[in-house]
This record gives sequence, structure tokens and C-alpha cells, in this order.
Amino acid sequence: MSETLPDRLAVDVRPLAGNAGAEILGVDASVPPDAPTTAAVRAALLEHKVVFLRDQPLDYDSQVAFASCFGQVTLGHPIYGGLKGQPLMREMDSRGEGTRANHWHTDLTYLQEPPSLAFLHNKVNPPLGGDTIWANTASAYASLPGGLRRLADGLRVVHSNDSDYTDDTYSHTGAARAAYVTDVFEAEHPAVRVHPETGERALLVGGFAHVVMGYSPAAGRDVLRILQEYATRPEHTVRWRWAVGDLAIWDNQASMHYALRLRELTPPTRACDRRRSPCGWGRRAPQRTASWRRPRGSRDRGMFGEPLEQGQDSTPHSQRKGHDSCRT
Ligand SMILES: [Fe+2]
Repeated sequence: MSETLPDRLAVDVRPLAGNAGAEILGVDASVPPDAPTTAAVRAALLEHKVVFLRDQPLDYDSQVAFASCFGQVTLGHPIYGGLKGQPLMREMDSRGEGTRANHWHTDLTYLQEPPSLAFLHNKVNPPLGGDTIWANTASAYASLPGGLRRLADGLRVVHSNDSDYTDDTYSHTGAARAAYVTDVFEAEHPAVRVHPETGERALLVGGFAHVVMGYSPAAGRDVLRILQEYATRPEHTVRWRWAVGDLAIWDNQASMHYALRLRELTPPTRACDRRRSPCGWGRRAPQRTASWRRPRGSRDRGMFGEPLEQGQDSTPHSQRKGHDSCRT
């Protein structure tokens, strides 16, 4: 089944599974899209939670320019920052830093304002494996038994980077984990968020969920485990087998994802991915979120609260001169 839009647009949206995922054809992400194309991609994204565009020849500038058409751009990562000269992008390469993401999570929920969208472009592929799975947390919420849904509606959860996400599956070495949690970020969110654009209610749990407010640690973990079990049921998911050049865009306000860990092969063969993200669900969310705690000794901080390199510009990319290229 496909959903060809009823106008001159060449955008073709092809759903991949019952509750999550769609492939988009007819969009060249190396060129800033016009307003109708941007609207079509956003509509598909909001409906399917994650969309995939194949064969996209992107470099840093073109990926940032494309993503800037969908919202304000954040710096690459609150802990890792970005590459030198590419502050708005996080390079993900398990061969280098040795980190993994084989834990269900919504990105950066230990911040008060996690990114609303994420753009992941695949540069290098392993010969086998390395798929990523996304789950639709709105359909997951809708599937909860009534009593559990009412329970979830009233919960508030503290998320932290010092959490299950960074257990010993996170990296090859303890040093990488230690570096990740040197500065502790925490943010309190409702367990069920109302999406500011769709109005859908969606579960917000995942690997950074740490403490349920008002519950004992043991009871809180059990509550989170039960919600997580519903949220990650296969009927809410889609699994993507990457090819070089694939661009995935996901709605970080209504999804979780899990990057399958590869067997340890010699030589190392992990995919090398690059991502950057428009930010700021907190700015538009109707629900209160508590402030995340700034790291000890923080002074000059970027949008994510991360320390800035000397001379680094914290101005969002989309607000800088020369980056108004979205065609409207
Ligand atoms: Fe992630």
C-alpha cells in the first residue's frame, strides 16, 4: 500500500509495518526541500514515527541544511559534543569510541528538552547485522489495559544518563561508561506525554528512566519494567536493515529505538553513523518538565548544557546567517 499525495509532489510514502515506519521516495535530501515537500515529510513522520530515505548523498552542510527545515537545530550531543568544525552533528562509530545503543531508549531524555526529531545518516555499513528497531510509543500507550493506562497517566519519572542505558552493554570498556557519567544530567518527565503536534498520548520510559516519583526504588523499577514490556512489543515496531546512504528521521516524542549489537568480528565492522537533531520538545510541550541539573562546575553551556569549546558558537544553526535556505 502506498500513499501518493494528491498534488504535483513526487513524494511517495510507503508504510512498512502496522504501527511504525515508512519509506519515503521522491525526496532528495541533499537539496533543501520546498514547503510542500517539508510538510509531506513531516506529516509522514508524525504518522509513522520513523521514515527512511534511501540513497541520500549527504555531507555535513547538506544534512544540516535539510534538517534545519524541520526545526531549530541543537548541538551534536550534550556529553560528546560534535566533531571539530561540525558542532551540530554527532558521529557514532563503535569502532572508535566503542559505545553501543543496544538498549531501548528515547534519545536524551535526561535533558529537560530532548530533541524532537533526529536525523541519522548511514555512512559505513557492516557486512552483516547492525539493524535498528523503532517502537511507536503512542500505539503502545493506546494498547495498555485501562487500569495500567490510568496508572501511567499519573506517573512522573526522573531520567538520568547514569542509568540502565549505560550498564556494561554500553561500551567495550569501563572507561567509556565512566566518561559518559562523569557529569550527571537528570530531568523529570511525565510517563505519558501529549504530543504537541498530534495530540497523541505516548509513553515515555526507556533506558534513561531511572526513578518513579513517590515510589520505592524497587517498586519504581517494576512499574517501569511493566510499561517497557508493553512499549516494546513487536506489533509496535519496525526493523530497518541499513544500506549506505540511508537517512532515517524519527519523531523522538513518540518513539523508542534499539540498535542491535553486532557479534564481535575481526576486524571491527560496526556501522558508522552520523546524526544531528532539531531540538526542543520542551519549548512546545504543554506539560511541565523540571529543570535538568547542570553538571558540577558548569559555566558556559550550549543548548544541551554541554561545555563549549573555545570559540565555539552556541547559536543554533538555523538561526545563523547563511542558513535560511529552506525553500518556501
Ligand atoms: Fe539513540
